[in-house]
Amino acid sequence: MAREAHMSWQEAVRGVEVEPSLYAADASRLGAQIEELLEAGTRIFHFDIGDGDFVGPITMGPIVIQSIAPIVHSAHAMLDCHLMVRNPEKHIPQVAEVGGDSVTFHVEACAEPARAVGLARELGLGVGIAFNPETSVGAALAVARGVDLLLCMSIHPGYSGQEFMPEALGRVAALRAALPQGVHVQVDGGVNAGNIAEIRGAGADLLVAGSGIFASADIGRAYRELASAASPLTL
Ligand code: DX5
Ligand code: ZN
Repeated sequence: MAREAHMSWQEAVRGVEVEPSLYAADASRLGAQIEELLEAGTRIFHFDIGDGDFVGPITMGPIVIQSIAPIVHSAHAMLDCHLMVRNPEKHIPQVAEVGGDSVTFHVEACAEPARAVGLARELGLGVGIAFNPETSVGAALAVARGVDLLLCMSIHPGYSGQEFMPEALGRVAALRAALPQGVHVQVDGGVNAGNIAEIRGAGADLLVAGSGIFASADIGRAYRELASAASPLTL
């Protein structure tokens, strides 16, 4: 359905991307806020699925993806889905079916990461591996074969609005040094106008921002400010 009509996730990533995290959006105005951000230049939206088990809260899920995918895809933008769930392989087919474009699952929550990566690929999805602050960079790298991105959590996953953990900067630099150029380094948690240039400078090129955008009265402007703070630097 929603998948075959548009470009791949890999084609949509222009280099450095700021990804608004829809978890922090006003759910009563979700479509309007997405359109405002598309207008401001957003090409990748971050969509958090939490199961109430791997992370405390149940967040949002496939029926929301199904509603917003046509809006996002008609502007040639993408839905980057962050699966904060146990047994992600159980949910990947449904995410693909309803219009998700990529899935990033947690190394801590998946018994057979290589199988989950293979499944995502068979479904035509972009794929990434996420890891929590307690998990070593090496443990994430060990299962990263064939992925598009590694997601370094800079908070304990579960909620928007937490403070960035500065130790993530060294972990990002270690990831960037260890990964081939074509593999993206994503950071999620506490990214804001005050720290985004430093996070980018450490080597991250996919920068997720929830409250850093949605806490603003003008979300389009907040997106553009983050995007311009992130993009002047080159690696
Ligand atoms: C929470 C999610 C994040 C969250 C980020 O665990 O994975 O994507 O929405 O929100 P901020 O940017 O406010 O930390
Ligand atoms: Zn997330």
